[in-house]
Amino acid sequence: MTVGIVGAGQLGRMMALAGYPLGLDFLFLDPSEQPPAAALAPVLRSAFTDADALAALARRCEVVTIDWENVSVAALRSLGRGTRVCPPPAAIAAAQDRVSEKRLFEKLGIATTRWRAVGSRRQLDAAVRDIGLPGILKTRRMGYDGKGQAVLRTAADLEGAWARMGQVPLLFEELVPFDLEVSVIGVRGRRGECQVYPLNHNLHCGGILRLTRAPFGNARLNRLARAHVLALMEHLRYVGVLTVEFFVRGGKLVANEMAPRVHNSGHWTIEGAVTSQFENHLRAILGLPLGETRAKGYSAMINLIGTLPGRSRLLRHPGVHLHDYGKEPRPGRKLGHLTVVEDNASRCDRRARALLAEVAPEIHIP
Ligand SMILES: Nc1ncnc2c1ncn2[C@@H]1O[C@H](COP(=O)(O)OP(=O)(O)O)[C@@H](O)[C@H]1O
Ligand SMILES: [Mg+2]
Repeated sequence: MTVGIVGAGQLGRMMALAGYPLGLDFLFLDPSEQPPAAALAPVLRSAFTDADALAALARRCEVVTIDWENVSVAALRSLGRGTRVCPPPAAIAAAQDRVSEKRLFEKLGIATTRWRAVGSRRQLDAAVRDIGLPGILKTRRMGYDGKGQAVLRTAADLEGAWARMGQVPLLFEELVPFDLEVSVIGVRGRRGECQVYPLNHNLHCGGILRLTRAPFGNARLNRLARAHVLALMEHLRYVGVLTVEFFVRGGKLVANEMAPRVHNSGHWTIEGAVTSQFENHLRAILGLPLGETRAKGYSAMINLIGTLPGRSRLLRHPGVHLHDYGKEPRPGRKLGHLTVVEDNASRCDRRARALLAEVAPEIHIP
């Protein structure tokens, strides 16, 4: 049984790594020369927007899924009824545009930031007047790892930000003075059955995720996040893994964005949960029974960004799991991650601190 994956990045690679023990095969579609998943399965080389290439992928696969949400929804829709696409293209479309994402949160009663759509310089001025400063200007589409964003602190910042970003549709929103950031990962199967992982605590630096710890937070916060991801999955008739990122302020959740796929903040589930997010995504889209999402202990996941320290240096740390995505080093690029799992939270933090001191001394566990 072959799973087709649009995008052959590290997420696709980890999906394949989770799927081989289940007896699955994989076929990828990706425009790049040597994408991370190419080491595991064949890749059809084509643009994400190429409807013919997508159709060729679909013909050879049981189901088509994504490892990167900025695919052409029109091309996915053109595959027609004979092809099972998971998650549903409507969900991918909603998550591709920050404005439709915010509207969806609001429609479902999920608190989100105050925001305005910005399509002209005049609308930017009006948005800043309505929302106030400081605020954050984001491209509506294609943003990731903090790319396509500018923090506006004073009126003097508007001109430069508009010159740099004004060519594409934008969204302006309040800059939330959050206490911390969390994310929740849910999975919904073909018959509507759902499972939700415990909450992740995420530390970002310059818009890039650096550290995730899980399980995190009290029962109330976990319940709230769980209710939100369940409501979204239900509404979207979702099939697969869905991630929602939140700011936490004064004990309240404020939705930031969602990702219609497995997520960096869920990488700890490979070693730290009964069933990983990657395996559960595959189970969901293939109509197999979902696996348990319970954590097996306390996990910390550290992203390796820009350069990959030597293997033997990293593996000297007891209990560490190294994931090297096989990518060319480049500043700001996610090249791999480390996970430690311990049976109590303080031991896990101690291990994570020792690893951070080695690979990212600028990051501190609060
Ligand atoms: N409105 C905001 N207020 C405060 N911080 C923000 C806001 N929007 C984004 N950030 C910071 O930037 C990070 C990346 O922004 P996000 O909207 O999640 O975009 P991306 O698609 O790049 O992940 C967030 O995790 C958060 O740390
Ligand atoms: Mg984000």
